[in-house]
Amino acid sequence: MTHQLDLDFIRGQFPSLTDAPTNEWAHLENAGGSYVPNQVIGLITELFSHAKCQPSWDFGPSVLATEAMDRSRVVMAELFNADPAEIHFGPSTSQNTYVLAHAFRAGWAEGDEIIVTNQDHEANSGVWRRLADSGIVVREWQADPTTGRLDPADAAALITDRTRLMAVTHASNVAATVNPIRELADMVHAVGGRIVVDGVSYAPHGVVDVQALDCDVYLYSAYKTFGPHIGMMFTKADLLEEIAHQGHYFNAGITSTKLTPAGPDHAMIGAAAGIGDYYDAVHAHHFGASAAGRFARTSELFDLFGTHEEALMEPLLAFLRERDGVRVVGAAESDHTVRAPTIAFASERRSSADVYAALIEAKVSCGHGHFYAHRLVTALGLEPEDGVVRLSAVHYNTAEEIERALAVLDRVI
Ligand SMILES: Cc1ncc(COP(=O)(O)O)c(C=O)c1O
Repeated sequence: MTHQLDLDFIRGQFPSLTDAPTNEWAHLENAGGSYVPNQVIGLITELFSHAKCQPSWDFGPSVLATEAMDRSRVVMAELFNADPAEIHFGPSTSQNTYVLAHAFRAGWAEGDEIIVTNQDHEANSGVWRRLADSGIVVREWQADPTTGRLDPADAAALITDRTRLMAVTHASNVAATVNPIRELADMVHAVGGRIVVDGVSYAPHGVVDVQALDCDVYLYSAYKTFGPHIGMMFTKADLLEEIAHQGHYFNAGITSTKLTPAGPDHAMIGAAAGIGDYYDAVHAHHFGASAAGRFARTSELFDLFGTHEEALMEPLLAFLRERDGVRVVGAAESDHTVRAPTIAFASERRSSADVYAALIEAKVSCGHGHFYAHRLVTALGLEPEDGVVRLSAVHYNTAEEIERALAVLDRVI
């Protein structure tokens, strides 16, 4: 049985897509922040209306808050094929990596080595690089300066028996090409190291199986994946035992607070379960009632999303490939297992700021610059403030929205 994505149903879940005044925009800045469906909005409203208080006590609203937060942890664990104890919420991915870097450093000695890339968003780069100040040797795995892609053979050459960690993105928010995480994990694990994977830009486009990837940490920003503005990280159970406690001293030994020194936003944590509720609603609409578990249902759904996203990015990539003087960052092909539909490009003829302005004029939501992948954009030989133009789609985008962008690009580049 083949399934066609029912875009009317899907878009009907997102008020920003259906209602004025936002519905006049073709939202192609999803890599910066995706819209939220009614399932998430409903939970935020419910939790702010009836459970906006301190959780963990026995009074009614507090019980509701606790239940909502616990449910989110379970839903997230199911989505990532993890255990709920391995799920940690924090204010953002950037804050989560900041905490992680402290937690890891406590167990390392001067002269221990880590590998970072110049393809990553700064959130999974700067905090690790700063450890050089305390005697950690930082090795940079460099992307190809023309394509922006990483070659695993270059990573292999950087690994030694002192490698403690590799920090790498699953798919960069600019190059968007899927990196072979399992292969990298195996390489790092062979010398007793760990791998921290930034999945922020990958997770809106593919199912994430942390067990199959064998990653030690998987970073996720719910607000890029149809959820509220919080960060979440999967941390493998044995790693959690190993790294240093970052919470208050009297909570030492409580793993659920080990990596959350900041009081997280309870209502937003509770609302994160709405991402799973949304996937369930879309799954039920397309596949009917299912006895399969959440992870299996979500995998099936992402196959459908991937096929649609591939159809969205193909005309855009085809156009950009053929235009003289235009450089696309990352893989040139539209296979959704190879790249996400986050298309960043630069034109020799027009500044990215000009192209951006023309797109905005036509009500195409997008951005330009370095998108905090400052090192990558610089390594590509571009001036980072002007940087690249980025058009980033997700499964709710339509062929007409891509056509609107293409009509502008045809005129200006
Ligand atoms: C690939 C990637 N990693 C990490 C981050 C940082 O996430 P947060 O805003 O949750 O700190 C972003 C945000 O743009 C991103 O695109």
